[in-house]
Amino acid sequence: MTKSEFYNFFRKIPKAELHIHIEAVMSRETIKKLYQKKNGVEFSDSEIKELFSYSDLNGFIAAFLKVQDIFTEVSDFDLIFDDLKNYLVRNGIVHCEAFFAPSAFIKKGFDYGEMTKNFEKNLKKIKDETGITIWLMGDVSRTFGLENAENNYKMFKEHPFAGFIGIGLGGAEAKGPSKEFGPVFEKALADNYHAVAHAGEDVGPESIWDALNICHAERIGHGITSVQDSELVKYISENKIPVEVCPTSNVFTKKYVKKMAEHPVREMFDKGIPVTIATDDPIFFGAELLDEYWNLYSKLHFSKADLKKIVINSFDDSFLDDGEKAKFKNLVEENWK
Ligand code: HPA
Ligand code: ZN
Repeated sequence: MTKSEFYNFFRKIPKAELHIHIEAVMSRETIKKLYQKKNGVEFSDSEIKELFSYSDLNGFIAAFLKVQDIFTEVSDFDLIFDDLKNYLVRNGIVHCEAFFAPSAFIKKGFDYGEMTKNFEKNLKKIKDETGITIWLMGDVSRTFGLENAENNYKMFKEHPFAGFIGIGLGGAEAKGPSKEFGPVFEKALADNYHAVAHAGEDVGPESIWDALNICHAERIGHGITSVQDSELVKYISENKIPVEVCPTSNVFTKKYVKKMAEHPVREMFDKGIPVTIATDDPIFFGAELLDEYWNLYSKLHFSKADLKKIVINSFDDSFLDDGEKAKFKNLVEENWK
C-alpha cells in the first residue's frame, strides 16, 4: 500500500483514541491567537520553534505548562475544542477519551466550576455536530505532589459534569512516583470513577507495578518499560490490562526509545499486551493518529491485519459499555471490506 492509499483507507475506518491531552491538540493558529491576546504582540515562528524544542520528558512538561499559561480566560477552551473536533474528524476518530490537566489553570485563578460548564457545552456541541463522543479524565497530576492531586480530585468530585469519567496521573514521572498516589486512586475508584495512570514512560517497570498494585490503575499510559520485565509483560497480558502506546511521544522524550524502528510496541503487541495506539500531544510531537498507524505499518512491520486488531483494541480497551463496543466493532468490519 502506498502512503496515500494507506491514509485514505485508515481515515475511513472508525477508531477510538484513548490517550490525548486536550491542551496539546490546539492548532498553531490557536496558539498564535491566544498568545497575541495575552501579550499584545505576535508569537514569532522562531519563538514557537523554541517552545517546541525539548530533549526529555521534563523539558516537554515545562513546554506543556507554558502552553497552558497562554490561556487567559475559560472561554479560550472553545478554541481548543474546535481544534479537537477538527483533529478527530480528519483522523476518523469516532470516540475519544481525553485528559485535561487543571492544576495550572487553578493556580492562575480560573474557576473550575466555570471550566466544567465550558467542557460540558463543548462536548455536547461536538456530539451534536459530528456524532463523535468525547469523554474527559481529569489529570490529578504527579508534578505537584499528593496534596495537590487530592485537591484536584476533591474539585472533580464537587463539580461532576456529563462526559467526565475519571482521573489520570500525568506529569513528571521521575519526580512523582506512582506509589505516592495510591490514596487519590483509592478514593476515585471507591466513588466509581475510572482511574488510569501514565507509568513506564520515564521510569522503569517498577513504576508500572506500582500503578497496578498500589494505584489499581485500569489502564496504563505508555507502559513501554514493561518489556524490561518478563514477569510484568506476562502479568499485563494475562490480566488483559490495556496499555495506551504513543510511539512518537516516546521518540521525542527519548529516554527509552532512540528511533521509531526500535519502539517496543512491536514486542508488546507480539507478547499479547492489549495495546492501543494514541498520540498523547499531537501539536508538540507533530504526529496525528493516522501518522501513528502509518509509523507502525511503515517502520515497525505491522501488517494490515495487525492494525485491524489495534483498531478493534481501541474500542475493547475503552470505557464504553459492551453494547457500544460491539456497535463500533461492527462498523469497523463493515468499513474494512
Ligand atoms: N506524560 C506525562 N504528562 C503529560 C504528558 C505525557 O506524555 N502529556 C501531557 N502531560
Ligand atoms: Zn500523556
